Amino acid sequence: MTNHSLYRGSIFHCIETSSGVEPAYHEDGLMVIKGERIVEVGGYAELSARYSSEGSIVHFKDSLIMPGFIDSHIHYPQYKVISSYGSSLLEWLNKYTFVEEQKFSDSEYAAKIAELFLDELIKNGTTTAMTFCASYKQSVDVFFSAAEKRNMRMIAGKVMMDRNAPAGLCDDIDSSYADSKSLIEKWHNKGRLSYAVTPRFAPTSTEGQLIQAAKLLTEHPDVLLQTHLNENSEEIAWVKELYPEFNNYFDVYDKLGLSGPSSVFGHCIYNTVDEYKRMAETSSKVALCPTSNLFLGSGLFALNELESYGIDVALASDVGGGDSFSMFDVMNQAYKVCRLNGYNLDPVKAFYLTTLAAAKVLGVDDSIGNFESNKEADFIVLDLNATELIRQKMQTATDISDLLFCLMMLGDDRLVDEVYILGQCAYKK
Ligand code: GUN
Ligand code: ZN
Repeated sequence: MTNHSLYRGSIFHCIETSSGVEPAYHEDGLMVIKGERIVEVGGYAELSARYSSEGSIVHFKDSLIMPGFIDSHIHYPQYKVISSYGSSLLEWLNKYTFVEEQKFSDSEYAAKIAELFLDELIKNGTTTAMTFCASYKQSVDVFFSAAEKRNMRMIAGKVMMDRNAPAGLCDDIDSSYADSKSLIEKWHNKGRLSYAVTPRFAPTSTEGQLIQAAKLLTEHPDVLLQTHLNENSEEIAWVKELYPEFNNYFDVYDKLGLSGPSSVFGHCIYNTVDEYKRMAETSSKVALCPTSNLFLGSGLFALNELESYGIDVALASDVGGGDSFSMFDVMNQAYKVCRLNGYNLDPVKAFYLTTLAAAKVLGVDDSIGNFESNKEADFIVLDLNATELIRQKMQTATDISDLLFCLMMLGDDRLVDEVYILGQCAYKK
């Protein structure tokens, strides 16, 4: 009988126990897959005795098998905005982003970029993302169609934006509600796809539009919400001007019905104590975007503060504000943001924040994020000989933490040798 797929190699994933997050590491491991799902992962000696008659074993030597990365905040229409020179957030939005996003009214252009974007995610080992689309309904249709063809677990939504942007990009209160609603009906929970209501950020929405966004959440309780919060000081001052009757930036979202356990707020650098408290009370989630924050010069997030309030966080690339699709880069720069704050980011924690923690923030941890039995088999195979420097440095690694730290500081897409989506090989370098 050969109805299982068997992969031998070093295997790493994160698990949660009563004492917290722990690395599960099998230096010589076996991963057993049946169809689209994980059956079991464990030591080779033990599992091969039970499963070797079930199929032939593929051996990945000098490799690390781990779950596919999960990027909890990214913008697919900003594929070509990446690395735009020399601006802080609001200027960068006007000068580059709003110009490029207008091209997505053309479905053919949008479809082409969606394919390039997904290619780039996959070659970097990212198998799931939550992405902003453009404000045009068709930009969401082509994105979901492209993800569906590849069997990828993806979350996306139409940007809602009815002021402070070029007229060509703006929707209005009624159309943004109606378009979002019909996209939810068409795509939400279709196979591996799900929807996120996506008001861009408070400055580009009227209060009326945010109220309609909240109405969508009430009508569709299992859709997510994605937006931006407290990324940049000018942005925060602007929100104060636009929403003078609210206590703070988070209060705008909170009072209008957009906070909660299914809401993911990007950035959250400059939170006040009141905001931290309300975010925790509402179980709102946070996507931290170090590459973007450093590229745009936005500031340094405070991971320890967020954690001290018990707020769930994940890491994210925020391409095109972020200048890399690689979650290795994201972890590298998250480590340095923490160093500048005077503490370390533990490497196991860094990988947790790009896999299982991100799955939890996106509410998909029952399906992906680690190799628990019956989860969907999205995994990547990293080549530990990918560069001479990594190969040499690996010889000095004494444990899994050392090994992971080396990968997160020195790694990039050259490490990603193979990518499997739902048990099928989707990419070989
Ligand atoms: N705030 C509002 N829109 C955006 C965006 O597209 N990127 C980033 N980084 N911040 C935003
Ligand atoms: Zn963003």
